[in-house]
Amino acid sequence: MDQVMTRKPHEMLAAALSQELEAVNALIRTRMASKHAPRIPEVTAHLVEAGGKRLRPMLTLAAARLCGYEGDHHLKLAATVEFIHTATLLHDDVVDESAQRRGRPTANLLWDNKSSVLVGDYLFARSFQLMVETESLRVLDILANASATIAEGEVLQMTAASNLKTDEDVYLQVVRGKTAALFSAATEIGGVIAGAAEEQVKALFDYGDALGIAFQIADDLLDYQGDAKATGKNVGDDFRERKLTLPVIKAVAQATDEERAFWTRTIEKGKQQDGDLEQALALMAKYKTLEATREDAFGWAAKARTALEVLPDNEIRSMLSDLADYVVSRLN
Ligand code: IPE
Ligand code: IPE
Ligand code: MG
Ligand code: MG
Repeated sequence: MDQVMTRKPHEMLAAALSQELEAVNALIRTRMASKHAPRIPEVTAHLVEAGGKRLRPMLTLAAARLCGYEGDHHLKLAATVEFIHTATLLHDDVVDESAQRRGRPTANLLWDNKSSVLVGDYLFARSFQLMVETESLRVLDILANASATIAEGEVLQMTAASNLKTDEDVYLQVVRGKTAALFSAATEIGGVIAGAAEEQVKALFDYGDALGIAFQIADDLLDYQGDAKATGKNVGDDFRERKLTLPVIKAVAQATDEERAFWTRTIEKGKQQDGDLEQALALMAKYKTLEATREDAFGWAAKARTALEVLPDNEIRSMLSDLADYVVSRLN
């Protein structure tokens, strides 16, 4: 009983959807294989077997079930969504030159950038094969748009990242693109495949959008105040990569001339030295930007919960509602 009480919302969802999730994992394992290129299963197994929370496929399964779906196309869609996610992670770790993912060395570190890029492409292509099998043009439209939006978000981030003019609006656009687009597509297609009413499909989209934004803001916050053991990623990566995330954007907006010179040197020019991360953290503390960022994340989580109101009030809905709290409560 105690164990049940202390389960986290995504674990509750995983338990409620365990059979379907097992089927999705089996589908992922089958479809990530390759007959001709052994490098593919090596790289994909490294990443897929490391786990990952399977949040996005759970969102698709949960949305479909919430809308009363009784078929099995949602399994393929959930696997599709996780394939897209995995492909973007492979590419993202190359772009970000990251060394750790899911508590393991990244594929780009263990193999090389070429392997990560090409295997990522393979997974993207596999995801399209899977979604086509559901024979829903509307679902194809949603996932094709989401894939384009994710890439667009990553490119926008690349050009905006070390530009001190980047403001909160641009940040929101980046986050909506690179992260929330897949969350909202994941929930929306669950409703679409179930043939839900338009109002409900829209609510599922809005829920995923707000949840994804809350999730990424929380992730950006954890980059400065997280515990590498718990997140499976290194602390301070964003600063070293000169990425303007919300805590920094808020500090830059209030900076004195001297502080601005610090941000220009470290973020814009990338001339970092020992002690700079500590100095950046001190400036964020001075303007309480980590707290303000946390408030923003809680605001998006509240929006996500509100969006659920037009959906059937059942166990799955309350788990989705708890999930919105959870993605930001990691910050407490
Ligand atoms: C990581 O997402 C990428 C971001 C959008 C921050 P997750 O934290 O959901 O990654 P896994 O799948 O659980 O590893
Ligand atoms: C998440 O972006 C990756 C995508 C959504 C494509 P980040 O670069 O911020 O995430 P982590 O910190 O590497 O997981
Ligand atoms: Mg990254
Ligand atoms: Mg990135």
